[in-house]
Amino acid sequence: MLLLSASDLKRLLLMRDVMKVVEEAFLELADAGPKSPKRTIVEIPEYNGSVLFMPAYLQRSKSLSLKVVGVYPGNIKRGLETTPSILCLIDPETGIPLTVMDGKYITAMRTAAMTAIAAEHLARRNVESIGVIGAGVQAEYQLKGILEVRGAKRVYVYDVLVERSQRFAEKVREELGLMVQVGESANDVASKADILIVATTSKQPVFDGRVLAKGVHVASIGWVGADGRELDTTTVKRSKVVVDTKEGVLSESGDILIPIREGAITVDHIWCELKDLVSNRKKGRESEEEITLWKSVGVGVADAAAAKLAYQKAQEKQIGLWVEI
Ligand SMILES: NC(=O)c1ccc[n+]([C@@H]2O[C@H](COP(=O)([O-])OP(=O)(O)OC[C@H]3O[C@@H](n4cnc5c(N)ncnc54)[C@H](O)[C@@H]3O)[C@@H](O)[C@H]2O)c1
Repeated sequence: MLLLSASDLKRLLLMRDVMKVVEEAFLELADAGPKSPKRTIVEIPEYNGSVLFMPAYLQRSKSLSLKVVGVYPGNIKRGLETTPSILCLIDPETGIPLTVMDGKYITAMRTAAMTAIAAEHLARRNVESIGVIGAGVQAEYQLKGILEVRGAKRVYVYDVLVERSQRFAEKVREELGLMVQVGESANDVASKADILIVATTSKQPVFDGRVLAKGVHVASIGWVGADGRELDTTTVKRSKVVVDTKEGVLSESGDILIPIREGAITVDHIWCELKDLVSNRKKGRESEEEITLWKSVGVGVADAAAAKLAYQKAQEKQIGLWVEI
């Protein structure tokens, strides 16, 4: 079996390539319907955590995977990662495990790829500034993904932890050569952005939806759980909402479920799923003024697609460690 570390995966995966295979996965979903069982969540309340078991199968590319992700927001205080993860890719013909790899990097890349594909359909063409609220691991890749499909001159960032905002700003300046400013508040960043990335571990809305300018595209991928949300009702109500899957969002996203429970919107407020955009069954942005919202809680088939690509590239480039188990 092949073991692939996060640093191996960094050498193997390019965002553009991941976008391509993830788009193919959503086209398969559009044509053939979902083949993957819903993920199973085991809550561990005594440690304020939960562990997600995410199986997925893509018939066309023969990608069969199981990702295991811990969600432990309190880890941040212990200096540990908040979403540790591994992924196992299995040969669908024999059931034999082919590779075990770091799941966190796959998650970051596939989540960013999905966001980028959605932004291609939903964001305005002319973008001056990208706002980032929550400057953690996902945010960095979300930004890199969006930059694949839209150029920008400036980035505004805000995190409740000041040192995180500053570290993020330095990294973006150095690695991407963009102008970056640390915002005074989440509202400050939200009000200045043409595209707004929201990728926090917050269970409470992080900005006031009234500050969003017309024409903004919001990409929200943080806080996964029905009992919390990073977006307020105003943001959701003002937006044309596209989700990764209705099944996932309607069971795990408080961002959408809480406004529904409040009676502020109905399920019909969700415009469509990503598969409808990639298969051109639904239009994305239709005017310069509308506010669009991409809400994602994650989909196993995107993991399967990215993991299969990583495995193929690892074999081509002879990267990784082979072990007998
Ligand atoms: N949709 C998906 O597919 C998907 C995939 C991976 C992770 N996630 C979710 O995305 C979120 C971020 O993940 P991560 O790995 O980047 O975590 P992380 O811990 O690295 O980063 C989260 C950041 O949010 C910041 N934050 C918390 N509350 C805030 C607030 N009120 N205002 C501003 N910033 C705030 C934290 O300080 C932290 O820097 C998590 O909730 C995770 O569950 C979703």
